[in-house]
Amino acid sequence: MQKPLANKQILLGVTGGIAAYKGADLVRRLREAGAEVQVAMTHAATTFVTPLTFQAVSDNLVHTEVNPEASMGHINLARWADFILIAPATADFIARLAHGLANDLLSTICLASDRCIAVVPAMNLIMWENAATQDNCSLLTNRGIKIWGPGFGSQACGEIGAGRMLENSKLCSLVIEQLSASPGNLNGLKVLLTAGPTHEALDPVRFISNQSTGKMGFAVAKAAVEAGAQVILVSGPVILKPPPGIEYIKVESAVDMYDAVMARVHWVDIFIATAAVADYRASTLSQQKIKKTHEKMTLELVRNPDILAEVAALRSHKPFSVGFSAETHDLLHYAEDKRRRKNLDMIAANRVGTTGSGFGSEQNELHVLWEGGAQLLPLTDKVLLGRQLIRLIAERYQFFKTS
Ligand code: PMT
Repeated sequence: MQKPLANKQILLGVTGGIAAYKGADLVRRLREAGAEVQVAMTHAATTFVTPLTFQAVSDNLVHTEVNPEASMGHINLARWADFILIAPATADFIARLAHGLANDLLSTICLASDRCIAVVPAMNLIMWENAATQDNCSLLTNRGIKIWGPGFGSQACGEIGAGRMLENSKLCSLVIEQLSASPGNLNGLKVLLTAGPTHEALDPVRFISNQSTGKMGFAVAKAAVEAGAQVILVSGPVILKPPPGIEYIKVESAVDMYDAVMARVHWVDIFIATAAVADYRASTLSQQKIKKTHEKMTLELVRNPDILAEVAALRSHKPFSVGFSAETHDLLHYAEDKRRRKNLDMIAANRVGTTGSGFGSEQNELHVLWEGGAQLLPLTDKVLLGRQLIRLIAERYQFFKTS
């Protein structure tokens, strides 16, 4: 049987509190669950437990210094990790993380990472209850960083209250839950997705486009494969590598995307439109580079086909149709309007034009709406969000088939 954390790469950050000694057992448990673990320690942590201890239990060199020359420098470590777990996290480290400081290796890795981070506080109860610590934790939570704990009980300082590091067994379960959120069951189903931006050419060297990177769409495609579906991904120009196990079709423009989708949609069960398709294209495509001749210039644009609306309007063999809605304001109002107008079975609305979610970021938040129901999928890593969305789609698809 596959271990629950098989193929997962976890960076354990250890900061300087008495609970640091528990970190060695935590590494052992994470490895037993199948994860590869690397450890980064603050200087204060090394006064409680030696790096050698963590080296022995992790079977990897332990990282303590910012060293741009090192093969595992802070950027590489940030990229390497699927997940960063800071346990124990002192009040001082939480404060530094909350304020974006990068004054040691661990804080620098966290700042350079766009992965999911969980912080496991361990400190004296008065320090935990202090408004400064509470405010710092709120800042982290608002940024999507998870705060796990603290637990309640007797403390090293002799007091009893909130501030204990959560037990390692509990932490392991939380990591497994976080990293292996089941994407549901789409066994035997065929799923067609669109992703990324489109490029609408103006002349041989210029085009109109948008900020989509394809991350959200590729994450949903990956989750659909994990759920057992046969997946076709039609994507506009992106630099991402397609997830293994899918049929990948690269396109440039909205019309190309429309053609690729329409040629395949008749045999799929589910259509998911995550692409940021340009609504308009230039009415004429200049065969030569447009010259700078006048002070002002007017571009005439014509409407592109609405791929999603056309799929959802199919009379024979309409697939379960899921749209996305990217809005800067009145998110739910516009999303619900699109869901009804385009006759969608489901729509996932996300806020764009802000930092930390929507276009380009590693994380996102989705408000998912369907006839008579809604669910918020809170801010998290797009990979996890893709799984949560696919799980919802799998549930609603069953209902769609039987109704
Ligand atoms: O790619 P990332 O950087 O990860 O960013 C992800 C994202 C923000 C692009 C993604 O989460 C998202 O919101 N995708 C939909 C963007 C969009 O174009 O939304 P819209 O509200 O303009 O369009 C509504 C729906 O109609 C979308 O499902 C869209 O794919 C579809 N559509 C729109 C126009 C068109 N001509 N054809 C379409 O199929």
